[in-house]
Amino acid sequence: MSIKDPIEKILITEEEIKKRVKELAKEIDRDYEGKEPLIVSVLSGSYMFTADIMREISLPLSVNFIYASSYGSGTASSGKVEIHGVKGFDPVGKDIIIVEDIIDSGRTLSEITKQLKECGANSVEICTFLDKPSRRVVDIKGKYTGFEIPDEFVVGYGLDYAYKYRQFPFVGVLKKEFCE
Ligand code: IMP
Ligand code: MG
Repeated sequence: MSIKDPIEKILITEEEIKKRVKELAKEIDRDYEGKEPLIVSVLSGSYMFTADIMREISLPLSVNFIYASSYGSGTASSGKVEIHGVKGFDPVGKDIIIVEDIIDSGRTLSEITKQLKECGANSVEICTFLDKPSRRVVDIKGKYTGFEIPDEFVVGYGLDYAYKYRQFPFVGVLKKEFCE
């Protein structure tokens, strides 16, 4: 069995991702000129996107990692968001760019944004690799968005189903029999 067998179709190719990551990094370079942003990477899903976009940004920057979980091992959000790690760094006066894998209901990012703003950051913006606008429950939008996608459960480029499939360099949709 090949590791690609569970994939029904590829939604975004490796080449498309590389091109888009470069474009987003350019936008950030331009918008934050003269500043030293703090990247707050939301684990686990955004580890690959974070590593790639950081290597394309030319500004001096720092990075901290926080951990958010709402999904457990299913494909539907539990509605409860747990966030860890915000107390592990000092956001006061910083220009924070939250780097996330995907905005779905919006609950995770609205909670993270709220916590970081309350901690005294100078500015807080969102850079999300993917966005599923049709699923939104909380009104929130990324300043930087890689790709808008339809309401399908996707894996790859860091995103998982039941902790698997993160390793793919592309974004794909799973075959039904692999996510039921
Ligand atoms: P939200 O709080 O509903 O916006 O959910 C955000 C989190 O759910 C993301 O950070 C992902 O970890 C996870 N998630 C949402 N949609 C997908 C998907 O299609 N594939 C994998 N994970 C997803
Ligand atoms: Mg996530």
